[in-house]
Amino acid sequence: MSEHVCVVVEDGVLSITLNRPEKKNALNQDMYAAMTAALEDAAGSREIRAVLLTGRGDSYTAGNDIADFQQSSSEGAAASGASGFGDRLVRLEKPVVAAVNGLAVGIGATMLLHCDLVYASPAARFRFPFVDLGLVPEMASSLLLPRIVGYHRAAELMLLGGFCSAEEAREIGLVNRVLPATELLPHARGAAKALAGKPLGALAKTRALLRGDLADVIARKQQETEILQQCRQSPEAQAIFRAFMTRSAAG
Ligand code: COA
Repeated sequence: MSEHVCVVVEDGVLSITLNRPEKKNALNQDMYAAMTAALEDAAGSREIRAVLLTGRGDSYTAGNDIADFQQSSSEGAAASGASGFGDRLVRLEKPVVAAVNGLAVGIGATMLLHCDLVYASPAARFRFPFVDLGLVPEMASSLLLPRIVGYHRAAELMLLGGFCSAEEAREIGLVNRVLPATELLPHARGAAKALAGKPLGALAKTRALLRGDLADVIARKQQETEILQQCRQSPEAQAIFRAFMTRSAAG
């Protein structure tokens, strides 16, 4: 377990709260392991019937810890933690609600494409920064984002890589609702609790119908992971990671 991930089960809902606010909840390997283990518990438990994801502080998550990306091993620890978490999330048969309390960058944004309900506070901002990092998208987001928001909006978000506000995210269908900060978590919890109280079989079957055949999602995710692994080790990406971490160290 990670000190940076809080897991609580209440009213049939497993809540995962990212708790590394000093690093904008950037996800390191321990955090991925803890999140994956929590989803595994949710999958195997009769008591748990819905999952809630959120972050503590001013960020949901700033995505993969860039320090991990600097590792040059071909096994790619950074990719394996994220990929294992992604696989578990994609295959989860229980509904997932996200309460986006702030910055959602990289996998912080792409994981939302696998959630059933996404609520955001006005402070939420979304960014798919992969091209600017010398990388390609992950979590099958190159397939799911155009499906959800349309090709041109997806291209703008992924090729230009700018921030998208909470209100813009709602308009294009990335987010269900924008709620005042104080109402965000109670609302998201209420929705997760409501889902946990629904007839289990009908809910799971309806969710499976809504999501459709996941074979193409799983295949795209795998394809992205392979390309991302190559990109991650490229001189252009390594220089970008170095510049980010040096900037951080310089304060
Ligand atoms: N990986 C590692 N550390 C990160 C991080 C990440 N993805 N995102 C933020 N941090 C760290 C910063 O290095 C900084 O650490 P320090 O205090 O030790 O210097 C701390 O979190 C606060 O971040 P800072 O950049 O000072 O905050 P900000 O409000 O100016 O900017 C972001 C916030 C998220 C816009 C900016 O940190 C950023 O662009 N991060 C990278 C996000 C990214 O590209 N993620 C995708 C990876 S695939």
